[in-house]
Amino acid sequence: MKPFCSAKKTALALAVLLICLAVKAAETFTLGELWPDNRGQHIQAHGGGILKVGDTYYWFGEDRGQNLDWRSCHVSCYASTNLSDWKFCGDVLNMVAPTNFGRRMILERPKVFYNPTTKKFVMYFHMDNGRYQAASVGVATCDTVAGDYKFLKYFRPLGHESRDIGQFVDDDGSAYLIFEDRPFGFRIAKLSADYLSVEKEICLIPEHMEGGALVHYNGLYYVIGSHLTGWNANPNLYATAKSLAGPWSEFKDIAPPEKNTYGAQSTMLLKIVGTKTTSVIFMGDIWNADNLGDSRYLWLPLEIGGGKMTLPAPQKWSLDITTGEAKIGK
Ligand code: GAL
Repeated sequence: MKPFCSAKKTALALAVLLICLAVKAAETFTLGELWPDNRGQHIQAHGGGILKVGDTYYWFGEDRGQNLDWRSCHVSCYASTNLSDWKFCGDVLNMVAPTNFGRRMILERPKVFYNPTTKKFVMYFHMDNGRYQAASVGVATCDTVAGDYKFLKYFRPLGHESRDIGQFVDDDGSAYLIFEDRPFGFRIAKLSADYLSVEKEICLIPEHMEGGALVHYNGLYYVIGSHLTGWNANPNLYATAKSLAGPWSEFKDIAPPEKNTYGAQSTMLLKIVGTKTTSVIFMGDIWNADNLGDSRYLWLPLEIGGGKMTLPAPQKWSLDITTGEAKIGK
């Protein structure tokens, strides 16, 4: 009897271990709360974007925790291999350094691309003066992903006003910006071969929206954006098209409009291509206008496909970064 019992016990222990490992493989996300980094400090990567290098995800965003003037922020960088546990890599662009552009300028919504030809990391951001009248994009570059980015220039892309920007890399590797041109709407434009300038307009979507982001999923392009209500949340909308150049469908709500996107505003649609499936994660900012550094994040897997995109009600969810499976609820 005894050997049988111990074999049974061993099998049981093994099963428990396997269950624990399986649970560990899927990271759980809580929403709208403080999100501590490896130092135990709330992540400062607002209005941000994500770049994957090898197996590591790098999250760049507005570091609003520095007690600078409300306009100013540095660009922070965090690294993770599971999208849940983030290590602070440092502020990679110092807004107030004299070699950069000075403390009276606004920097918002930084996004970093990797150019495989020049092997440079190229950062774009909304750059503006204190009255939001410069309406330009700024560009900074670096040889390493989380190094010291050097500010290069700022300009109006293709001569147009540009405030909120979003980044998009298509399946063929082409890099695009989506930017808000206040008098006209969303513009999608292709970057030059070295990514240092905005070369060619692909489309104007004549809707007055901001917080623009794009994803290509199962043969369709999806664009998302918010209305223009500053730091206050509003119902975010999406549209679809077979080609980036359009024609784009009419815009529809991603959630019941009375929920105001559960307090969040879109900043990126993150595609996770796993071994079993592909998930698309809505990355949103829950802004706190009175204390921007206390702004929170709403990240949720979208229900997406067949031309529909729905943001589920906030609840705990988990992601298996290897298989790409996102599970919402318990
Ligand atoms: C928001 C925009 C933010 C910031 C803010 C200023 O609508 O998305 O990035 O510019 O307005 O009021």
